Amino acid sequence: MTNPLHVPAQGFDTLAIHAGQEPDSLTGAVVPPIYQVSTYQQDGVGGLRGGYEYSRSANPTRTALEECVAALEGGRRGLAFASGLAAEDCLLRAVCKPGDHVVIPGDAYGGTFRLFAKVFERWGLTWTAVALDDLDAVRAAIRPGSTRVIWCETPTNPLLAVADIAGLAALAREAGALLAVDNTFASPYLQQPVALGADVVIHSTTKYMGGHSDVIGGALVAADAALGDELAFHQNAMGAVSGPFDAWLVLRGIRTLGVRMDRHCANATRVADMLTRHPAVAQVFYPGLPDHPGHEVAAKQMRGFGGMVSFRVRGGEQAALDVCERTRLFILGESLGGVESLIEHPGRMTHASVAGSALEVPTDLIRLSVGIESVDDLLADLGQALDL
Ligand SMILES: Cc1ncc(COP(=O)(O)O)c(C=O)c1O
Repeated sequence: MTNPLHVPAQGFDTLAIHAGQEPDSLTGAVVPPIYQVSTYQQDGVGGLRGGYEYSRSANPTRTALEECVAALEGGRRGLAFASGLAAEDCLLRAVCKPGDHVVIPGDAYGGTFRLFAKVFERWGLTWTAVALDDLDAVRAAIRPGSTRVIWCETPTNPLLAVADIAGLAALAREAGALLAVDNTFASPYLQQPVALGADVVIHSTTKYMGGHSDVIGGALVAADAALGDELAFHQNAMGAVSGPFDAWLVLRGIRTLGVRMDRHCANATRVADMLTRHPAVAQVFYPGLPDHPGHEVAAKQMRGFGGMVSFRVRGGEQAALDVCERTRLFILGESLGGVESLIEHPGRMTHASVAGSALEVPTDLIRLSVGIESVDDLLADLGQALDL
């Protein structure tokens, strides 16, 4: 199952197209087939062909995706799950035990926060939410001896705050904790947390990795083999694996990740620039803007600033809701990272689960997932929605 193409000397786009995806040994098919199968003939009891026994444990289409994601993130082991949250759940149950403590971001995807606050809290995991762009605050939040994980999202969902991954990795090492980085917003094309010292990377592959809004999936990449084995044991023991067709769709999306991300970044830069100059807009959040508080760190650790832009409108919540309903090209909907542009109101939609918590988001906030359409059409659409 080792891939001769999986060598760090190759460029990102080469790995995206070839890692884990050598032509099929039986037919020469240039794309990994969808192995829609649950079990495998054994050559005598325990005589497994290529290590395949039962598709919860391993499936060749999933293996192709897992090898590719590991190569793109520069980690030792990749694992593909049924969703991003399934990946998060597996990671936490694999590395934490009741009584442990985790440091979580003061701004994060609402579903991630809900997992900590409504599921793992009952299980006995305690947490402290802290702004991760303040390393002193993170240091103060660490409980020596019981903090097991520093959980980082950068850029964050939905406020696009930027955390210094190398700085957090140093704090985690000092504390004997693991640094887990949710790299969903950046994708490995823009940011590689393992190279900056992270122990494990998390993805909702539903987003940029899949890239076409047609699949739900998640992934974990472990920086070292021992953690990879531990996660793989739990993945099999808990069972929330990616099905073969879903794994195939994510892998198909990944092959164009680099070119898509370049266009997402270029379009988002134009959109952020237009919004900063619009009189109906009160504040724009985009790490590519020179006055963004995390701009310098983002410029240091990211190849580009991503396709997500958030902004606050003048006129409060009703004005924000009105704008969300007036766009024609930007589709009103949750999720992000697909080729089409989306608009949403985090307070009422993706982040409704953080209402009343330390992670509450402003009610006049709008989040855009800027797609790869012709940028002039996107600017015109936002213009007409804001100008009314
Ligand atoms: C940053 C981030 N992490 C994780 C998730 C969860 O992923 P999924 O919806 O695939 O379970 C999301 C979903 O929106 C997300 O935005």
